[in-house]
Amino acid sequence: MKEHYYFDNAATTWPKPETVYTTMDHFFRNYGVNPGRAGHELAVEAEKMIGETRRMLAAFFNYGGDPNRVVFTQNATDSLNIALFGLLAEGDHVVTTRLEHNSVLRPLNHLQRDHGVSVTYVARDAQGYVDPEAIRKAITPQTRVIVVNHASNVLGSVQDLEAIGQISRSAETVFVVDSCQTAGVLPVDMDAMAIDVLSFTGHKGLFGPMGIGGMIVREGVDVRPGRVGGTGVDSASPFHPDKYPYHLEAGTACLPGIAGLNAAQRWFAELGRQQLGAAVGATSHADSCRAALRHIAARETGHVAQLRAAFRDLDGVVVYGPNDGGACVATLSINIQDVSAEQAGTMLDADYHICVRTGLHCAPLVHEDQHTVEQKGTIRFSPGYFTDEDDVEQAIKGVTELVGMLVRT
Ligand SMILES: Cc1ncc(COP(=O)(O)O)c(C=O)c1O
Repeated sequence: MKEHYYFDNAATTWPKPETVYTTMDHFFRNYGVNPGRAGHELAVEAEKMIGETRRMLAAFFNYGGDPNRVVFTQNATDSLNIALFGLLAEGDHVVTTRLEHNSVLRPLNHLQRDHGVSVTYVARDAQGYVDPEAIRKAITPQTRVIVVNHASNVLGSVQDLEAIGQISRSAETVFVVDSCQTAGVLPVDMDAMAIDVLSFTGHKGLFGPMGIGGMIVREGVDVRPGRVGGTGVDSASPFHPDKYPYHLEAGTACLPGIAGLNAAQRWFAELGRQQLGAAVGATSHADSCRAALRHIAARETGHVAQLRAAFRDLDGVVVYGPNDGGACVATLSINIQDVSAEQAGTMLDADYHICVRTGLHCAPLVHEDQHTVEQKGTIRFSPGYFTDEDDVEQAIKGVTELVGMLVRT
C-alpha cells in the first residue's frame, strides 16, 4: 500500500528525477549568486549555466535560431501574458480556441474589454479536436495573432500544430503556442510547426521546479516588454535593451529554477541515450531528447489507455475526450453519473489515497461545451512517467468501488 497514488501530473509532475533535486541543491549552495557576464568567477559560472540551459532548450524545441531568443519567465502564465500584451494593440484581432486555459483566456478577455482587441473562439469537436480549416476561416485582415493550446489540459486531445502553423505563416500572423501539456511528452518542434512564440512552463513535463518557465520568440517577431528594469547590461541607458534575452527579462532570474531545468534537460538526454544504446556525445541533445520523449509518451499513453478502457466498462461512468487512437496525451477526464466531481475526488483521496484534480481545471469553455459546469467540472486522472502498475490498479479499484457505492441503477 502506498501513501499516495499520484494522478495529478497535468497540474505538476511529481516526483521529479532525483538529479533535479540534487543539482538544484548543489548549484544553489556553490554558485547561487547573481549572474553577470563581466562579473567575478562565481557570477561567470552561474551565467555559463544559464547560457547552456538556453542552448539545450532551443535544441529541445528545435529552434534553429539564436538561443538568446529563449527567455526565462516565472511560468507559462507569465510567458503568455508577456506574449499577448506585448504583441497586441487596439484594433487587432486574435484567433484562438474554446479549449484554452485561463492563462490565455483571461489575458484575451482583458485585452478585449480594456484595449480594443477582438477575439474569435474556434469551436472543437466532441473529442476535443479543432479543425485547422476553421482556424483559417476565422482569420480576418485584422488578425495579428493565432494562439493555440497544443494539448487540452482537460481532455488530453492534441491539435495539429503543423497544419495550423502553415495557415498562420501564409496569413502572416504571429503563431503563439501554449505547450504546457506537451513539452516533455511530445515533440514540440518550433521550426516544423512554424511556431513564432512558444510558451512553456518548467514544472510540468519538463520536470523542473515551480517558479521557472519561459518562452522562445522567433527572430523578426517583436514583443513589447511588459516589465523593464535592471538587466546587468547597458546600465547607463535610460531604456530597457532591445537585445534578447534581456529585452523580455528584467530583474534577478530564478537561478535555482534554471539549474533545475538544466538538470532535467540532461536527464532527458541521458534517458534518450539509454533508449538508443548510445554513448555520451554520440547523439545530439535534440536527438537524445526525442528518443526520451518517445519512451515517455509510450509509457504514459499505455497507462492512460488502461484507465480509459477500464472506466469505459463501468456503467454510470462518463469518459470525455478522444477515442482510442486519437492523438492525445495522458490526461483523462471522467464523471460518475451526476455526482459532483469534487465529491468523487474527495472520496478517492480520503478512502483510496488517490490524488486526482477535480473542477474546471481553469478551462471554463471546455466545460460549457460539454455541459459539466453544474457538476463542478470533471475528475481528471493524469498519470506521468513515474506512475506504475500499482497506481493504475489502485485508480481502477477506487473508481470501480465508488461507482458501486454511488451509481443508481
Ligand atoms: C494548458 C495549460 N496552459 C497553461 C497553464 C498554466 O501553467 P502555469 O500555472 O505553470 O503558468 C496550465 C497549467 O495548468 C495548463 O495546463
